[in-house]
Amino acid sequence: MEKGIKEAIKARQKSYSPYSKFKVGAAIELKDGTFIHGANIENSSYGVTCCAERNALFSLISQGYHKEDIVALYVTGDTPGPISPCGACRQVMVELVPKNAKIVLSNIKGDFEETTLKKLLPYAFEEFEGDND
Ligand code: THU
Repeated sequence: MEKGIKEAIKARQKSYSPYSKFKVGAAIELKDGTFIHGANIENSSYGVTCCAERNALFSLISQGYHKEDIVALYVTGDTPGPISPCGACRQVMVELVPKNAKIVLSNIKGDFEETTLKKLLPYAFEEFEGDND
């Protein structure tokens, strides 16, 4: 199994999902070989739950890394085929992940599909492209 998928499976173990019992893991591979993990974190006020993909990306930015450091994003869950990210995460990915990054969707058995941001969210809304200052 590809290392990135294994990392996403490790990230998934950190899920806090007592309501749905559906654990999701995301692992972002950086140019320096580091993997940043994210898992879904739920809340009794269901709407404020945050998905694994967004948690991984927000963690990456919070730790001082940048979009340009990203090589690949791996996501996994216990789904029959490769997991498919929600619409909100796709919108966040368009802004925080470089267009040429490898996106690998998988399940915990290791079935996977490699895709791109463009395929995940065509006609994406993008207000600006540039520095955040
Ligand atoms: N979830 C993710 O973490 N990522 C996705 O792409 C889809 C859904 C989470 C949110 C919630 O905690 C649980 O899966 C069930 O929807």
